[in-house]
Order: sequence, then structure tokens, then C-alpha cells
Amino acid sequence: EKGGFEHFMLKEIYEQPKSIKDCFRGRLKANDGKLVLGGIREYSNALINAERIVIVACGTSWHAGLVAEYIFEEFCRIPVEVEYASEFRYRNPVIKEGDIMFAISQSGETADTLAAMELAKSKGAVVLGVCNVVGSSISRVSHEGVYTHAGPEIGVASTKAFTAQLTVLTMIALRVAHRKGTLAEQRYREILVDLENIPNKVAKALETDKQVEKIAALFKDARNFLYLGRGYNFPVALEGALKLKEISYIHAEGYPAAEMKHGPIALIDEEMPVVFIATRDSSYDKIVSNIQEVKARKGKVIAIVSEGDSLIPGMVDHTIEVPGTHEALMPMVATIPLQLLSYHIAVMRGTNVDQPRNLAKSVTVE
Ligand code: F6R
Repeated sequence: EKGGFEHFMLKEIYEQPKSIKDCFRGRLKANDGKLVLGGIREYSNALINAERIVIVACGTSWHAGLVAEYIFEEFCRIPVEVEYASEFRYRNPVIKEGDIMFAISQSGETADTLAAMELAKSKGAVVLGVCNVVGSSISRVSHEGVYTHAGPEIGVASTKAFTAQLTVLTMIALRVAHRKGTLAEQRYREILVDLENIPNKVAKALETDKQVEKIAALFKDARNFLYLGRGYNFPVALEGALKLKEISYIHAEGYPAAEMKHGPIALIDEEMPVVFIATRDSSYDKIVSNIQEVKARKGKVIAIVSEGDSLIPGMVDHTIEVPGTHEALMPMVATIPLQLLSYHIAVMRGTNVDQPRNLAKSVTVE
């Protein structure tokens, strides 16, 4: 049932070109400029006219929400807040009619997310679910929603569910932006084509596996890791760090690269591996300076860069190249080598990759 892979996690990492395609099925036809989301019909006008979007989720799903925040604000010009479901539900949040809530959950059973939705519903908000498990509690409590259709995810560490969440949230944002007129037709069409090409780019990113495994061997005994990214790649840094913590039990922190100066820079010495997600996008020049700052303090830098980057490889200790795409879609590609890195480190450390200690696949208690 692991299809020849040693662990479910690795199988699921490798399934991503297919799971993303499955997510497009019946929804996206880029050449015709077609994007339909059957799951949001009755409330599609409410979404288009939303004054505000609140996203609630936990863990990896919360990271998908952070990427969605950037996408919705850029393309749809709707203010977005991303909340940990557990914090939102207990702090008497301001939520009212006209607000749209997205609840993101692989399992569809996360207790805090469910409770946050119930609260928002009781105050008159429209709640839309982005779930993987069909018929789950969260999908039933939502007014409407869009399934991620990534297929069953067995590994406790979420991988293909994350990229499927990004796919769905991107499709929703593009649909809204097109209907609102906040994204010009030409750009809309171009991004649809870029989106349809993501499975090929993810397949290409998977080809870094052997190289990532070699890097993993060099850093498997590290006691700490820092992951840094900016803009769309900031949530990718958080997700990379979470994956490493969960399955390898190495302490890791993800940070927006510019925040480094406000504290984490004190941690950097020649023992400290720092993973930069430094693909070519609008924050490229800024992240290059952040890399210089780390190298000046002798940190060991592993950089995820765009194919053909000729600057960063000369500055850092290790580079991993991934294919380029529109910056809003980059998280789906850039996250792949980070999944592989945590996987290989965990295997080398002999941990239980698919069932890490103390963690459960669905967290049905608060
Ligand atoms: C991370 C992980 C957890 C879940 C979190 C939310 O790899 O598995 O952080 O992402 O427990 O779970 P769902 O998405 O099922 O609500």
C-alpha cells in the first residue's frame, strides 16, 4: 500500500504532481480561461462582496492560510486576517455579518477549528470550508466549501494536503479577483496557465531528492535550524521548520527573513544551519542581503533558489534549484525540497517518520 516507498510520507510527497492535478479536475482549463468552483455557488456573491476575510486553521493548514492572505490581498484587494483557531475562539473576536470565514483543515475534524467556525456562524458570518476529508465534521458545519481532493493522507506530517490547500485557495482567489475585476483579464489568463503548469514544476522539484539527501546527511546531527523567507516564501519557511520539528525532533524556527535582526541573529554561529527560501521574486534583492548578513556571521546556508540563479550559489554553502513560476504560486514548488529535507533527516536519525511521537493525525480535542 506504500506503493514501493519506504514510508507513507515519501509516497505522499511524490504524489503531489498528481494530487494537484486531481485538485484541478473539472475546475480548471487554463487555455479556455475557465475556472469553476462548484463548491461555492450560493455564497459566491457574498464572497465577492466581502468586506473582510478571516481564515482559521491550525498547524500546516494555518501556514496555507498565511499564503492565502497574501494572495487574496494582492489579487482581490480584500483585507484578510489569519488566526490560530484556538486563539480566535477564546478571545471574543470581532466578527459580523458580511464577514467571510475560511476554515482550512486536512482532516476536517480539528476541534479548535470546528469551534471557531461555530462561533463565527453564531455571529452571522458565512463559513466556507477547505477540507480534504469528504463528509468530515468541518465540511458539514461549513455553509459551502471546496474539497482539496488530495486523497487519503496517512503520514502524520502533512505534505500533499498542504499543496492541495494552496491550490484550492489560489483557485478561489483567482475566481474572486476575476469576478471583482481586481485582476485584469490578461494577467488572470497568464496566472491560470502558470497554475496549470505547477504539477510539472513540482515534478521537477522532486528531482532534487538525491541532492537534498546528501545535504541532509551533512546536517542530520544539528541541534537547531533556522528557516527564513520573505513575502510569499515566509509561510514556506514556517512550514519547513514545522516539518523538521515534527518528524526529526530537531528544534527549528521559521522567521520572516527581515525579522532576523530583531532577535534570531544572535543564534547564528558556524554551527547554525540556516535555510533560505530565496527564489526570484519581488523580495529577491532583500533576501540576498539577509543571506550576506548570515554569512558574515559564519552561519551555514542552504538556499532554495530559482533555476539559473547565478548570484546566490556563489554566496552560500549549498544551493537547491527549483523551477520558477509566478511568485504567488512559488510556495507550492519551494516547499517540496523542504519536505524532502525533513524526511531524509528524520530517516537518518531513525525516528518514526509516519507516526512521530506525541502527534496525532487529527486533533479532536482542544
Ligand atoms: C503538520 C500537521 C499538523 C496539522 C494540524 C491541523 O504536519 O500535520 O500541524 O496541520 O493539526 O490539522 P488539520 O489540517 O487536519 O485541521
